[in-house]
Amino acid sequence: MVILRGAKEGEIWYLVEPESWGKGIATESVNHLLDFGFGELGLHRIWATCLPENPASARVMEKVGMRKEGFLLKNLKIHGVWKSGFLYAMLAEEWRHAPQIWRPNQGQLPDDARRVDLGQPREPQAAF
Ligand SMILES: CC(C)(COP(=O)(O)OP(=O)(O)OC[C@H]1O[C@@H](n2cnc3c(N)ncnc32)[C@H](O)[C@@H]1OP(=O)(O)O)[C@@H](O)C(=O)NCCC(=O)NCCS
Repeated sequence: MVILRGAKEGEIWYLVEPESWGKGIATESVNHLLDFGFGELGLHRIWATCLPENPASARVMEKVGMRKEGFLLKNLKIHGVWKSGFLYAMLAEEWRHAPQIWRPNQGQLPDDARRVDLGQPREPQAAF
């Protein structure tokens, strides 16, 4: 997570080794980062970007309840080539009311994890 000094906004990045893809590790990690950023650091907004050709990353952000805000035109230079990306973000008030797909210390994802009550606010808590 990158936070500009004095800012109430953080950017997150994540990378999982290919042999561990598809096990929910990125989703769990991003949830930790959201809980840590909003719950512990008191951030107002957390955002992340992904390349259009990376649907797995977009899916991770959608699973944790981040909102697709827009499309950043040629904002990132990769190997000398300017690439565009989708922008996803979450506000603190959205996090407090987000579906609790996974919470720290809950262990295995429950089968019905995506069917929780949207009206249940999250309480700030330790992320680790
Ligand atoms: C993107 C990345 C972080 C995902 O990590 P992961 O631990 O496999 O992610 P999760 O298992 O938590 O979730 C992946 C989701 O994407 C879905 N997915 C995977 N490949 C997909 C594809 N080609 N199209 C659509 N969805 C896809 C999975 O099915 C899963 O969704 P589901 O739980 O609804 O089935 C990992 O692939 C990675 O590190 N890639 C390289 C680095 C990178 O792209 N980082 C992100 C920079 S923004």
